[in-house]
Amino acid sequence: MARVTVIPVVLILSIFQSKTLFSTSLASGQRDVVDALGLQNVLWVTQHEPRVFLSWNNNLTKEETEKYTVKYVLSYKFFNTTRERKERLQKKNKIIYLELHSGFSAKVKTQLFAKETEDIVKEGGWTEFTYKAPPVYIQNLSCIIYNISFFNCTWDIKVEAPEDIQIFFSYRHVRKDFECQRYLKNGRKKNIGCHMEEIYFQPSRKINLNITVRDLRNNSRGLSYYKAFTPQTIEKLNPPVNVSVSLENRSIKIHWKPPPTIGSSSNKCFLYQVKITDRKIVDVTAEKYEYPFHKPANKCSAQVRVKKEVCIRNKIWSEWSEPVFIHDEKTVDVMLLSLTLFCLLIFLGSLLICTCRRYRCLAVITMPVPHPSDNIKTWLAADETHHQKQMSMQMEMHSDVSVGISEENGEENVQ
Ligand SMILES: *[C@@H]1O[C@H](CO)[C@@H](O)[C@H](O)[C@H]1NC(C)=O
Ligand SMILES: *[C@@H]1O[C@H](CO)[C@@H](O)[C@H](O)[C@H]1NC(C)=O
Ligand SMILES: *[C@@H]1O[C@H](CO)[C@@H](O)[C@H](O)[C@H]1NC(C)=O
Ligand SMILES: *[C@@H]1O[C@H](CO)[C@@H](O)[C@H](O)[C@H]1NC(C)=O
Ligand SMILES: *[C@@H]1O[C@H](CO)[C@@H](O)[C@H](O)[C@H]1NC(C)=O
Ligand SMILES: *[C@@H]1O[C@H](CO)[C@@H](O)[C@H](O)[C@H]1NC(C)=O
Ligand SMILES: *[C@@H]1O[C@H](CO)[C@@H](O)[C@H](O)[C@H]1NC(C)=O
Ligand SMILES: *[C@@H]1O[C@H](CO)[C@@H](O)[C@H](O)[C@H]1NC(C)=O
Ligand SMILES: *[C@@H]1O[C@H](CO)[C@@H](O)[C@H](O)[C@H]1NC(C)=O
Repeated sequence: MARVTVIPVVLILSIFQSKTLFSTSLASGQRDVVDALGLQNVLWVTQHEPRVFLSWNNNLTKEETEKYTVKYVLSYKFFNTTRERKERLQKKNKIIYLELHSGFSAKVKTQLFAKETEDIVKEGGWTEFTYKAPPVYIQNLSCIIYNISFFNCTWDIKVEAPEDIQIFFSYRHVRKDFECQRYLKNGRKKNIGCHMEEIYFQPSRKINLNITVRDLRNNSRGLSYYKAFTPQTIEKLNPPVNVSVSLENRSIKIHWKPPPTIGSSSNKCFLYQVKITDRKIVDVTAEKYEYPFHKPANKCSAQVRVKKEVCIRNKIWSEWSEPVFIHDEKTVDVMLLSLTLFCLLIFLGSLLICTCRRYRCLAVITMPVPHPSDNIKTWLAADETHHQKQMSMQMEMHSDVSVGISEENGEENVQ
């Protein structure tokens, strides 16, 4: 049930107000300073559990409200933060989500605008207000949705939290309540996180977290903190799928497909990054990337990662995809061929030695060399010419490579 606390605030009609009036009239030049009292507001809070309703009112005359457009400048800052939020409103209330803040300080002032010209005609002074919430015992709350249906949240317990507390986690999503499936605990058996699986998320509907700190010594209701997320903004995507690499026209072509997502899977939503061994990471919006290269590397790998960027603001990158290795087919073939030939040569060599030894041992020294080894010899000879060819091929390859290197060095020198 909503607790209603009406806290009238002392009017601050002081040097402060006259100062603002003075400075603003300086700015606009022809400001009426009439009946500042009527413009002055009274602020109070109607506190509902997950949200704080801040309201204000003043003594503007009927004439004034009819003659002018009335607007309010609201400025508020949560405790222990530096960011000041400022807005101009036409209504006389504001819902403030405390989340894990222990309170805020707010101030409001009235502005009257001429209906025709929309110039400021009158302005009241600031009225200040401080709202102090019950103590907050947790901090650094962070949640993530991953692998489509997995949901993790973690938090820290503040040092000033009482010893005998326990923390309970639940959330509401699309009008249903969910309890934590599995708590993560710290060394003192306190719950510091929650892991959930097989959860179905409606990407555009909010997840409303309710983290309740209970004192285990008394059966009191405990303190509840609330925070809301849009599922899409905390989704960590899986890495891109079906990453493939091909070598065409002396360039590396990498193709992939986007991973599944809980939100829109329209092509334009995804932002990718491609990492090729030792190269600078590049941003890519298409589902492919072409990298022209001069010197084919023997072995380099390509990896891709993804996040949502355009359709929804999301800061969480996926993991990198498994590396896909890029081989220069030609290099590999030549290397493989020379290796095979080398092994064959060793094998045949040892075979020859063995055969020779055997025949030398068994037969008379003067006996002519038998036919089989002749065969082997011719075979070897043929092979050797082959090998020589191979060697020359390799030589060519090497010279190619060195040319490539010098070209690249040249480029580097230019840069
Ligand atoms: C408006 O006027 C009434 C009566 O004079 C006074 O009691 C009240 O405090 C005033 N309110 C504001 C916001 O000044
Ligand atoms: C946060 O701000 C409140 C009010 O300004 C102050 O009492 C409190 O000590 C601050 N806490 C920390 C941790 O700075
Ligand atoms: C947790 O929050 C505190 C205060 O807000 C901050 O100083 C600290 O760096 C945070 N720790 C982590 C791990 O984010
Ligand atoms: C991702 O989800 C699928 C199906 O829900 C499951 O089979 C798989 O194990 C999950 N992967 C990880 C890394 O948890
Ligand atoms: C989520 O929590 C589970 C259980 O602690 C952990 O194994 C997993 O690595 C976490 N995943 C992410 C993405 O944080
Ligand atoms: C938050 O959770 C606590 C404990 O389960 C419960 O008492 C409280 O009513 C919940 N708050 C809302 C707004 O549902
Ligand atoms: C529990 O009781 C103690 C003392 O009896 C009190 O100080 C504390 O605020 C209570 N805890 C909660 C969460 O209400
Ligand atoms: C990825 O490749 C597999 C096997 O080739 C295919 O069945 C699957 O549909 C592909 N996935 C996508 C998203 O293209
Ligand atoms: C290679 O490049 C040439 C000219 O740049 C082009 O005509 C040809 O289609 C390309 N081949 C492939 C497979 O991309």
